[in-house]
Amino acid sequence: MKKLLIIGAMLLAPVFAVAAGGSNVHLDHIKVDATNQESLQRGMQLYVNYCLGCHSAQYQRYERAATDLQIPADLMMEHLVHSSQKIGEQMTNAMDAKQAQAWFGAPPPDLTNAVNLRGADWVYTYLRSFYVDNDRPYGVNNVVFPSVGMPNVLAEIQGIQRQTCGQVPMMDNGKPVFDTLTGKPMTTQKCDILVVDEGTGSMTPAEFDQAAYDLTNFLAYTSKPYLQESKSLGIKVIIFLLFMTLVFYFLYKEYWRDIH
Ligand code: HEC
Repeated sequence: MKKLLIIGAMLLAPVFAVAAGGSNVHLDHIKVDATNQESLQRGMQLYVNYCLGCHSAQYQRYERAATDLQIPADLMMEHLVHSSQKIGEQMTNAMDAKQAQAWFGAPPPDLTNAVNLRGADWVYTYLRSFYVDNDRPYGVNNVVFPSVGMPNVLAEIQGIQRQTCGQVPMMDNGKPVFDTLTGKPMTTQKCDILVVDEGTGSMTPAEFDQAAYDLTNFLAYTSKPYLQESKSLGIKVIIFLLFMTLVFYFLYKEYWRDIH
């Protein structure tokens, strides 16, 4: 019994270790949608333009993406395959890992599985959480990934984001706190509120959130390219099983008819 308990504790240990990692940072929640072709197409375009130069997505082939996201092959070649690559090839780049290590302090990881590894909420929040920090080599830091090596490559569309101080509603376990005397909501001083300098980005905050969503949605697709297929297959299998249940029910009736 004791042995079993020890084994059980050992099996559970990694679960707690994962749960402990960075759990104090608030992540904005999104629902990825593998059926939203337009979002996925926009996400792929953003990925090719802003990310692929540093991050390969080497388990994703252009051709498969063209089929799944319903992008005609000629448009894919014209707008989304920038290098001398062919449509049947994987989404790789010419980034040299050693040089990247020297430039950024860490090589940019392949992102095909980023959403499986980090979660969609994390990637979405990360892309929107860069802020000016002049102590960092590229002048930016990130709320969900402190001391990150990546520059804010989306700054031209997002604008320059800074941390400022201000009064925010006081929260207790996700609920607003009210003053017991006046009944008014209480506020508290915070110095990590993110604000974008007006007019510094080409997109409005809402448009930028949409762009970050589309990018994350695309990376969720590359993490599980078979998701849509398995969902529709799942429905077919259930219909088949229901049909067979009916067949076997009548067969059962038939077998027992003369005995009863
Ligand atoms: C100039 C090169 C460069 C570009 C362009 C770039 N990144 Fe990065 N990115 C990096 C580096 C370097 C790291 C590793 C940072 C570290 O470990 O400190 C990184 C890390 C990341 C991570 C965290 C990976 C992990 O799990 O540790 C994600 C997610 C990410 N980038 C997404 C993107 C997306 C999406 C884009 C396009 C909008 C993009 N990056 C564009 C250099 C780049």
